[in-house]
Amino acid sequence: MINKIAILGAGQMGSGIAQAAAVSDKDVLLYDVKEEFVQRGIKAIQTSLDRFVQKGKLTPADKDAAVKRIQLTVNFQDIAAADFVIEAIPEDPAIKLDAFKRLDGLLKQDVILASNTSSISITRIAGVTKRPDRVIGMHFMNPVPVMKLVEIVQGIATSESTLSTTLELAKQLGKTTVVSKDSAGFIVNRILAPWINEAVYARMEGVATAQDIDTAMKLGTNVPMGPLELADFIGLDTMLAILEVLHNDLGDPKYRPCPLLRKYVEAGMLGKKTGIGFYKY
Ligand code: 3HC
Repeated sequence: MINKIAILGAGQMGSGIAQAAAVSDKDVLLYDVKEEFVQRGIKAIQTSLDRFVQKGKLTPADKDAAVKRIQLTVNFQDIAAADFVIEAIPEDPAIKLDAFKRLDGLLKQDVILASNTSSISITRIAGVTKRPDRVIGMHFMNPVPVMKLVEIVQGIATSESTLSTTLELAKQLGKTTVVSKDSAGFIVNRILAPWINEAVYARMEGVATAQDIDTAMKLGTNVPMGPLELADFIGLDTMLAILEVLHNDLGDPKYRPCPLLRKYVEAGMLGKKTGIGFYKY
Protein backbone atom coordinates (compact mmCIF):
# COMPACT_ATOMS: atom_id res chain seq x y z
CA MET A 1 0.00 0.00 0.00
CA ILE A 2 1.38 3.36 -1.01
CA ASN A 3 0.90 6.03 1.66
CA LYS A 4 3.48 8.73 1.11
CA ILE A 5 3.94 10.13 -2.38
CA ALA A 6 6.67 12.58 -3.23
CA ILE A 7 5.97 14.91 -6.14
CA LEU A 8 8.83 16.73 -7.81
CA GLY A 9 7.84 20.06 -9.28
CA ALA A 10 5.14 22.33 -7.86
CA GLY A 11 4.10 23.83 -11.20
CA GLN A 12 0.70 23.42 -12.83
CA MET A 13 1.02 19.64 -13.28
CA GLY A 14 2.89 18.86 -10.04
CA SER A 15 0.51 20.85 -7.86
CA GLY A 16 -2.47 19.28 -9.64
CA ILE A 17 -1.11 15.79 -8.97
CA ALA A 18 -0.40 16.72 -5.34
CA GLN A 19 -3.99 17.89 -4.98
CA ALA A 20 -5.45 14.71 -6.49
CA ALA A 21 -3.29 12.59 -4.17
CA ALA A 22 -4.10 14.60 -1.03
CA VAL A 23 -7.84 14.51 -1.75
CA SER A 24 -7.47 10.73 -2.08
CA ASP A 25 -6.09 10.44 1.48
CA LYS A 26 -2.43 10.13 0.54
CA ASP A 27 0.32 11.92 2.41
CA VAL A 28 2.08 14.16 -0.07
CA LEU A 29 5.51 15.69 -0.10
CA LEU A 30 5.59 18.49 -2.66
CA TYR A 31 9.13 19.42 -3.64
CA ASP A 32 10.50 22.23 -5.78
CA VAL A 33 13.83 24.01 -5.98
CA LYS A 34 12.64 27.36 -4.61
CA GLU A 35 10.39 28.33 -1.73
CA GLU A 36 8.40 30.70 -3.97
CA PHE A 37 7.60 27.79 -6.33
CA VAL A 38 6.19 25.55 -3.58
CA GLN A 39 4.25 28.51 -2.16
CA ARG A 40 2.76 29.24 -5.60
CA GLY A 41 1.90 25.53 -5.90
CA ILE A 42 0.02 25.33 -2.61
CA LYS A 43 -1.83 28.56 -3.46
CA ALA A 44 -3.00 27.04 -6.74
CA ILE A 45 -4.14 23.94 -4.85
CA GLN A 46 -6.14 26.05 -2.37
CA THR A 47 -7.81 27.97 -5.21
CA SER A 48 -8.71 24.78 -7.03
CA LEU A 49 -10.02 23.11 -3.85
CA ASP A 50 -12.14 26.21 -3.18
CA ARG A 51 -13.80 25.70 -6.57
CA PHE A 52 -14.75 22.15 -5.54
CA VAL A 53 -16.08 23.46 -2.20
CA GLN A 54 -18.13 26.17 -3.97
CA LYS A 55 -19.62 23.50 -6.22
CA GLY A 56 -20.53 21.40 -3.16
CA LYS A 57 -18.25 18.59 -4.35
CA LEU A 58 -16.02 18.86 -1.30
CA THR A 59 -16.74 19.97 2.29
CA PRO A 60 -14.60 22.75 3.83
CA ALA A 61 -13.37 20.15 6.36
CA ASP A 62 -12.27 17.81 3.55
CA LYS A 63 -10.47 20.70 1.93
CA ASP A 64 -8.60 21.54 5.13
CA ALA A 65 -7.70 17.89 5.68
CA ALA A 66 -6.35 17.61 2.12
CA VAL A 67 -4.22 20.74 2.51
CA LYS A 68 -2.86 19.41 5.83
CA ARG A 69 -1.74 16.21 4.12
CA ILE A 70 0.56 18.20 1.82
CA GLN A 71 4.02 18.88 3.19
CA LEU A 72 6.11 21.40 1.25
CA THR A 73 9.86 21.14 0.91
CA VAL A 74 12.82 22.57 -0.97
CA ASN A 75 15.16 19.98 0.53
CA PHE A 76 15.78 17.16 -1.96
CA GLN A 77 16.90 14.78 0.83
CA ASP A 78 13.36 14.84 2.30
CA ILE A 79 12.18 12.79 -0.70
CA ALA A 80 14.00 9.77 0.76
CA ALA A 81 10.99 9.20 3.06
CA ALA A 82 8.57 8.58 0.16
CA ASP A 83 7.29 5.20 -0.98
CA PHE A 84 6.35 6.37 -4.48
CA VAL A 85 7.74 9.28 -6.51
CA ILE A 86 6.06 11.21 -9.32
CA GLU A 87 8.27 13.62 -11.23
CA ALA A 88 6.64 16.67 -12.86
CA ILE A 89 9.57 19.03 -13.47
CA PRO A 90 10.21 20.99 -16.72
CA GLU A 91 10.11 18.99 -19.95
CA ASP A 92 13.86 19.26 -20.59
CA PRO A 93 15.69 15.93 -21.08
CA ALA A 94 18.89 17.12 -19.36
CA ILE A 95 17.01 18.28 -16.24
CA LYS A 96 14.84 15.15 -16.11
CA LEU A 97 17.70 12.69 -16.58
CA ASP A 98 19.72 14.40 -13.87
CA ALA A 99 16.75 14.30 -11.48
CA PHE A 100 16.24 10.56 -12.06
CA LYS A 101 19.93 9.84 -11.43
CA ARG A 102 19.70 11.69 -8.12
CA LEU A 103 16.39 10.05 -7.18
CA ASP A 104 17.86 6.63 -7.93
CA GLY A 105 20.72 7.31 -5.52
CA LEU A 106 18.37 8.60 -2.82
CA LEU A 107 15.35 6.27 -2.75
CA LYS A 108 15.15 2.72 -1.37
CA GLN A 109 15.61 0.15 -4.13
CA ASP A 110 11.96 -1.00 -4.13
CA VAL A 111 10.49 2.49 -4.67
CA ILE A 112 8.86 3.17 -8.05
CA LEU A 113 9.90 6.34 -9.87
CA ALA A 114 7.19 7.67 -12.19
CA SER A 115 7.53 10.50 -14.70
CA ASN A 116 4.74 12.78 -15.87
CA THR A 117 6.64 13.40 -19.11
CA SER A 118 4.46 14.07 -22.14
CA SER A 119 7.15 13.43 -24.73
CA ILE A 120 10.43 12.03 -23.39
CA SER A 121 11.02 8.29 -23.72
CA ILE A 122 10.47 6.39 -20.44
CA THR A 123 13.06 3.84 -21.57
CA ARG A 124 15.61 6.64 -21.91
CA ILE A 125 14.78 8.04 -18.46
CA ALA A 126 14.91 4.53 -16.93
CA GLY A 127 18.29 4.00 -18.57
CA VAL A 128 20.05 6.47 -16.27
CA THR A 129 18.90 4.54 -13.16
CA LYS A 130 19.89 1.20 -11.66
CA ARG A 131 16.19 0.27 -11.41
CA PRO A 132 14.85 0.46 -14.99
CA ASP A 133 12.20 -2.14 -14.04
CA ARG A 134 10.81 0.35 -11.48
CA VAL A 135 10.56 3.37 -13.76
CA ILE A 136 7.23 4.13 -15.47
CA GLY A 137 5.31 6.96 -17.12
CA MET A 138 2.26 8.52 -15.44
CA HIS A 139 1.06 11.12 -17.90
CA PHE A 140 -1.62 13.25 -16.25
CA MET A 141 -3.81 15.66 -18.22
CA ASN A 142 -4.19 19.38 -17.54
CA PRO A 143 -6.08 20.51 -15.43
CA VAL A 144 -5.23 17.47 -13.31
CA PRO A 145 -7.92 17.94 -10.63
CA VAL A 146 -10.65 17.85 -13.28
CA MET A 147 -9.31 15.52 -15.98
CA LYS A 148 -10.06 11.85 -15.43
CA LEU A 149 -7.32 10.29 -17.53
CA VAL A 150 -3.83 9.10 -16.69
CA GLU A 151 -1.81 7.48 -19.46
CA ILE A 152 0.44 4.82 -17.98
CA VAL A 153 3.55 4.33 -20.09
CA GLN A 154 5.52 1.12 -19.97
CA GLY A 155 9.19 1.47 -20.90
CA ILE A 156 10.99 -1.46 -22.45
CA ALA A 157 12.25 -2.64 -19.03
CA THR A 158 9.24 -1.65 -16.87
CA SER A 159 8.15 -4.76 -14.94
CA GLU A 160 4.59 -6.09 -14.76
CA SER A 161 4.57 -5.57 -10.98
CA THR A 162 5.55 -1.90 -11.42
CA LEU A 163 2.75 -1.59 -13.96
CA SER A 164 0.12 -3.16 -11.69
CA THR A 165 1.18 -1.09 -8.63
CA THR A 166 1.00 2.11 -10.69
CA LEU A 167 -2.37 1.23 -12.20
CA GLU A 168 -3.70 0.60 -8.69
CA LEU A 169 -2.31 3.93 -7.43
CA ALA A 170 -3.87 5.86 -10.33
CA LYS A 171 -7.19 4.18 -9.47
CA GLN A 172 -6.81 5.24 -5.83
CA LEU A 173 -6.32 8.81 -7.08
CA GLY A 174 -9.72 8.56 -8.77
CA LYS A 175 -8.33 8.38 -12.29
CA THR A 176 -9.14 6.20 -15.28
CA THR A 177 -6.08 4.64 -16.89
CA VAL A 178 -4.96 3.57 -20.33
CA VAL A 179 -1.69 1.74 -20.96
CA SER A 180 0.62 2.84 -23.75
CA LYS A 181 3.88 1.45 -25.04
CA ASP A 182 6.82 3.83 -24.92
CA SER A 183 6.26 5.29 -28.38
CA ALA A 184 6.58 8.99 -29.28
CA GLY A 185 3.59 10.98 -28.00
CA PHE A 186 2.11 7.87 -26.34
CA ILE A 187 -1.63 7.77 -27.20
CA VAL A 188 -3.00 11.22 -26.39
CA ASN A 189 -0.33 13.46 -27.87
CA ARG A 190 0.19 11.17 -30.88
CA ILE A 191 -3.37 11.99 -31.90
CA LEU A 192 -3.92 15.40 -30.28
CA ALA A 193 -0.78 17.16 -31.57
CA PRO A 194 -1.44 16.54 -35.32
CA TRP A 195 -5.05 17.70 -34.77
CA ILE A 196 -3.84 20.97 -33.27
CA ASN A 197 -1.06 21.29 -35.88
CA GLU A 198 -3.60 20.94 -38.70
CA ALA A 199 -5.67 23.73 -37.17
CA VAL A 200 -2.58 25.98 -37.11
CA TYR A 201 -1.97 25.17 -40.81
CA ALA A 202 -5.59 26.07 -41.57
CA ARG A 203 -5.09 29.36 -39.72
CA MET A 204 -1.78 30.06 -41.52
CA GLU A 205 -3.37 29.38 -44.90
CA GLY A 206 -6.21 31.76 -44.05
CA VAL A 207 -8.92 29.12 -44.27
CA ALA A 208 -10.79 30.83 -41.42
CA THR A 209 -10.35 33.03 -38.35
CA ALA A 210 -9.06 31.45 -35.14
CA GLN A 211 -12.54 31.89 -33.63
CA ASP A 212 -14.24 30.14 -36.53
CA ILE A 213 -11.75 27.25 -36.53
CA ASP A 214 -12.41 26.72 -32.82
CA THR A 215 -16.17 27.16 -33.08
CA ALA A 216 -16.27 24.70 -35.98
CA MET A 217 -14.49 22.01 -33.99
CA LYS A 218 -16.23 22.78 -30.69
CA LEU A 219 -19.76 22.70 -32.03
CA GLY A 220 -19.02 20.41 -34.94
CA THR A 221 -17.37 17.64 -32.94
CA ASN A 222 -18.54 18.35 -29.38
CA VAL A 223 -15.19 18.97 -27.69
CA PRO A 224 -14.89 21.42 -24.75
CA MET A 225 -12.19 23.54 -26.41
CA GLY A 226 -11.34 24.15 -30.05
CA PRO A 227 -7.80 23.20 -31.18
CA LEU A 228 -6.32 26.71 -31.09
CA GLU A 229 -7.86 27.56 -27.73
CA LEU A 230 -6.55 24.24 -26.39
CA ALA A 231 -3.08 24.92 -27.83
CA ASP A 232 -3.03 28.28 -26.01
CA PHE A 233 -4.16 26.50 -22.83
CA ILE A 234 -1.44 23.83 -23.05
CA GLY A 235 1.26 26.32 -24.13
CA LEU A 236 2.49 26.80 -27.69
CA ASP A 237 6.08 25.99 -26.67
CA THR A 238 4.89 22.66 -25.24
CA MET A 239 2.92 21.92 -28.41
CA LEU A 240 5.97 22.67 -30.57
CA ALA A 241 8.18 20.44 -28.40
CA ILE A 242 5.70 17.55 -28.66
CA LEU A 243 5.45 17.91 -32.46
CA GLU A 244 9.23 17.97 -32.76
CA VAL A 245 9.47 14.71 -30.82
CA LEU A 246 6.83 13.10 -33.06
CA HIS A 247 8.55 14.42 -36.19
CA ASN A 248 12.05 13.33 -35.12
CA ASP A 249 11.18 9.96 -33.60
CA LEU A 250 8.60 8.76 -36.11
CA GLY A 251 10.28 10.41 -39.11
CA ASP A 252 7.03 11.02 -40.95
CA PRO A 253 6.65 14.50 -42.57
CA LYS A 254 2.99 14.51 -41.54
CA TYR A 255 4.17 15.59 -38.06
CA ARG A 256 6.13 18.62 -39.35
CA PRO A 257 5.36 21.50 -36.96
CA CYS A 258 3.49 24.31 -38.70
CA PRO A 259 5.78 27.33 -39.39
CA LEU A 260 3.18 29.62 -37.83
CA LEU A 261 3.44 27.70 -34.56
CA ARG A 262 7.22 28.16 -34.64
CA LYS A 263 6.78 31.90 -35.27
CA TYR A 264 4.51 32.32 -32.26
CA VAL A 265 7.03 30.51 -30.05
CA GLU A 266 9.95 32.56 -31.40
CA ALA A 267 7.96 35.72 -30.64
CA GLY A 268 7.42 34.56 -27.05
CA MET A 269 3.67 34.35 -27.66
CA LEU A 270 3.15 31.08 -25.83
CA GLY A 271 -0.60 31.22 -25.17
CA LYS A 272 -2.44 31.72 -21.91
CA LYS A 273 0.68 31.73 -19.71
CA THR A 274 2.18 34.76 -21.50
CA GLY A 275 -1.16 36.49 -22.02
CA ILE A 276 -1.08 36.11 -25.79
CA GLY A 277 -1.12 33.30 -28.33
CA PHE A 278 -3.89 32.71 -30.85
CA TYR A 279 -5.98 34.81 -28.44
CA LYS A 280 -5.34 37.63 -25.96
CA TYR A 281 -5.89 36.90 -22.25
N1 3HC B 1 -9.63 23.07 -10.30
C1 3HC B 1 -10.87 22.75 -9.93
N2 3HC B 1 -11.92 22.78 -10.76
C2 3HC B 1 -11.69 23.21 -12.00
C3 3HC B 1 -10.41 23.58 -12.47
C4 3HC B 1 -9.34 23.50 -11.55
N3 3HC B 1 -8.09 23.80 -11.89
N4 3HC B 1 -10.51 23.92 -13.78
C5 3HC B 1 -11.79 23.76 -14.12
N5 3HC B 1 -12.51 23.32 -13.05
C6 3HC B 1 -13.90 22.92 -13.02
C7 3HC B 1 -14.88 24.04 -12.91
O1 3HC B 1 -15.10 24.40 -11.56
C8 3HC B 1 -16.13 23.43 -13.54
O2 3HC B 1 -16.79 22.55 -12.66
P1 3HC B 1 -18.35 22.10 -12.90
O3 3HC B 1 -18.40 21.33 -14.17
O4 3HC B 1 -18.66 21.29 -11.70
O5 3HC B 1 -19.10 23.39 -12.99
C9 3HC B 1 -15.55 22.61 -14.64
O6 3HC B 1 -14.21 22.30 -14.26
C10 3HC B 1 -15.58 23.36 -15.91
O7 3HC B 1 -14.86 24.59 -15.73
P2 3HC B 1 -15.33 26.02 -16.28
O8 3HC B 1 -16.81 26.10 -16.32
O9 3HC B 1 -14.57 27.08 -15.54
O10 3HC B 1 -14.73 26.10 -17.69
P3 3HC B 1 -14.92 25.11 -18.84
O11 3HC B 1 -16.29 24.56 -18.87
O12 3HC B 1 -14.37 25.81 -20.01
O13 3HC B 1 -13.94 23.92 -18.43
C11 3HC B 1 -11.93 22.83 -18.72
C12 3HC B 1 -12.61 24.09 -18.26
C13 3HC B 1 -12.20 21.71 -17.73
C14 3HC B 1 -10.43 23.14 -18.74
C15 3HC B 1 -12.50 22.45 -20.12
O14 3HC B 1 -12.46 23.53 -20.97
C16 3HC B 1 -11.75 21.31 -20.75
O15 3HC B 1 -11.97 20.16 -20.44
N6 3HC B 1 -10.85 21.64 -21.70
C17 3HC B 1 -10.02 20.68 -22.38
C18 3HC B 1 -8.89 20.29 -21.50
C19 3HC B 1 -8.01 19.29 -22.14
O16 3HC B 1 -8.23 18.79 -23.23
N7 3HC B 1 -6.94 18.93 -21.42
C20 3HC B 1 -5.99 17.97 -21.90
C21 3HC B 1 -4.91 18.69 -22.59
S1 3HC B 1 -3.72 17.56 -23.20
C22 3HC B 1 -2.68 17.33 -21.95
O17 3HC B 1 -2.85 17.82 -20.85
C23 3HC B 1 -1.49 16.50 -22.25
C24 3HC B 1 -0.24 17.33 -22.28
O18 3HC B 1 0.85 16.47 -22.43
C25 3HC B 1 -0.21 18.33 -23.42
